[in-house]
Amino acid sequence: YLHQEEVVAQEFKDLIFSLPKENGWVASYLYKYQGFWHPVRHLQGIITCQRHFRAQDSDVILITTPKSGTTWLKAIVFTLMNRTKYSIAQDHPLLSKNPHDLVPFLEQTLYVDNQIPDLSSMNSPRLFATHIPFTSIPKSVQDSRCKLVYLCRNPKDTFVSMWQFSNKLRPKEMGSHSLGEAFDMFCRGVSIAGPFLDHVLDYWKESRESPHKVLFLKYDDMKENPTVNLRRIAEFLECPFSNEEEESGMVEEILKLCSFGNLSNLEINRTGKLSSGEENKVFFRQGKVGDWKNHLTIEMVEKLDQITEQKLCGSGLVL
Ligand code: A3P
Repeated sequence: YLHQEEVVAQEFKDLIFSLPKENGWVASYLYKYQGFWHPVRHLQGIITCQRHFRAQDSDVILITTPKSGTTWLKAIVFTLMNRTKYSIAQDHPLLSKNPHDLVPFLEQTLYVDNQIPDLSSMNSPRLFATHIPFTSIPKSVQDSRCKLVYLCRNPKDTFVSMWQFSNKLRPKEMGSHSLGEAFDMFCRGVSIAGPFLDHVLDYWKESRESPHKVLFLKYDDMKENPTVNLRRIAEFLECPFSNEEEESGMVEEILKLCSFGNLSNLEINRTGKLSSGEENKVFFRQGKVGDWKNHLTIEMVEKLDQITEQKLCGSGLVL
């Protein structure tokens, strides 16, 4: 994480190193590209993806702000889309693989490190994930009929989750990230794929304009009412649950398999590592709504609430 700058390919250097830069959360720096902040490795991936990714009409792309429940969404949509291929009751791929190894990130897994992957052997419908902001999404995604499932989370929990996560992954040389310092950066919009509120708002607007293209979900709603939201996802992806499936309890079964309690306790997620090297357990912390109450001061809450209200004012979105 620390020396990402050293492996940037020659062809990206002039572009990337002329961008505005700030201290990073996990990697040394974040660079501002098309209005959003990215670590250099993700940024190289985004640019490669913009140049080379060709969306297909049947593609499904899961889009999230980091720490909004990406791991959960990957598990749910993977299980949903593959429910005739893999029995939920036994030998399901989620029992032996972390969701991140089943649903690749475009910019962090496939188009990472200047690679141009050969996707020709992937069966359709293909399922990808990304944190790419709407303004930077590859053109073919907008031009095709592929579908985007967007998941965000309330800003206070997202922030706390991101701060905790960054302290787990930061190289020792960077020292720990104090709550105050991280909070100041988050409020200024300087966070991975941030400004957080712009990321959310752009996809919110897009979902309002093109409801068949973008499904907008909130982690908090998913926690409160998982069955309703899973049915919404299935309908949006044009694979609704049949009466038989409903009667057999499939909705509940998928949610149980993908639940925080189940996934976080699997051997693979307690002791395993991703193919990219991160420990699987870093993606599971508490999986609850409202942990911000245990970390943020009253002043912090007031400030973040105020920034959020101001930004979302008139948009119809409440976070
Ligand atoms: P907390 O840090 O608040 O516990 P991401 O997957 O985007 O990296 O987000 C991580 C957050 O989602 C963490 O939140 C993590 O615990 C939570 N999470 C992971 N798996 C989950 C699951 N199956 N159900 C609900 N939340 C989950």
